[in-house]
Amino acid sequence: MPNEWACKEDTMSIRDELNRLDEEMEKALGNLDSLTALEALRVMMLGKKGQLTAMMRMMGQLSAEERPQMGQLINERRERFTRMLDERQQAMQKKERELRLQMERLDVTEPKPLPEIGSVHPNTLVLNEVVDCFTGMGFEVVEGPEVELDHFNFELLNIPKNHPARDAQDTFYIDDNVVLRTHTSPVQARTMTTRKPPIRIICPGRVYRADEVDATHSPVFHQIEGLVIDEGVSMGDLKATLAAFARRLYGSDIHVRFRPSFFPFTEPSAEADLTCVSCRGKGCRICKGTGWIEVLGCGMVNPHVLEMCGIDPKRYSGFAFGIGLERITMLRYGIKDMRLMYEGDLRFLRQFREDVKEG
Ligand code: DAH
Repeated sequence: MPNEWACKEDTMSIRDELNRLDEEMEKALGNLDSLTALEALRVMMLGKKGQLTAMMRMMGQLSAEERPQMGQLINERRERFTRMLDERQQAMQKKERELRLQMERLDVTEPKPLPEIGSVHPNTLVLNEVVDCFTGMGFEVVEGPEVELDHFNFELLNIPKNHPARDAQDTFYIDDNVVLRTHTSPVQARTMTTRKPPIRIICPGRVYRADEVDATHSPVFHQIEGLVIDEGVSMGDLKATLAAFARRLYGSDIHVRFRPSFFPFTEPSAEADLTCVSCRGKGCRICKGTGWIEVLGCGMVNPHVLEMCGIDPKRYSGFAFGIGLERITMLRYGIKDMRLMYEGDLRFLRQFREDVKEG
């Protein structure tokens, strides 16, 4: 430290001190690990309060002959130290820049990982199959609005206001005359009022009911409506059409059976059961041991509905059916809980990358 040698007045001790500074400088330079440390060393040696500056100040104590000699030695240090620090600084800056360039290096020729391709939703996969199946039999796909007039959703389907069948379909009313459609059947009413037979259509789409959410219910789900109107259409045609559909979707060993039922817009009406797709008819937990599973409602279009829609029931007859898309998708892929289909969980959806065709 400057004060240690401040009391030494002879040139020898200044020389010693300079030599010691040389060593200190060498050592400090060797230990430098950052540009900040280098700046600190520069200040310590050459700064206003640095060691060399302090030695300069001590020159006043020397004789007039000694002064220039020592001054030269000190100045020579100042220049040398400055050079050493500058060189070192440049080397460090260069190294730092090289390191940064290396780290920031971009290989523009490097191939990019391919973007992940999404999968088709199981409902869509099954709908595509259903559409394929029916268009193959000469049906046409027709769509209708989800926000529907009471007139089409209920009235033209023989469900007047205060009819008990309205209670079965917990309806979301927009106002007295407008609802969120509770089924896809209004599309048959719309088609019958605007087209002349022969009519062969399927109408897939989203429907709404103020339902609970559980493993088999959702307030938003999908149906596929079917309608055929022509001269001489019979219940046998209905059964054969549904049998073709069942075989196409689930395999050639699947059969259809009808159980009597009631819908205001069909007469007679039936629930159609299919051979249980899980046990193939032997009886299991899914079909509760019966070998049959209920999949859709159907029937012959009620003549009163034909009449209300402007079709002559004496000349024409027709059949209709309504399939719940989620139900047949769940059966197709063995999905146990309907909620899986709406949650968007990738682990579930990724399993449908490829449609697994069975049967
Ligand atoms: N619309 C009925 C429902 O949502 C399903 C249905 C039954 C449609 C029989 C039909 C039919 O076309 O003939 O519950």
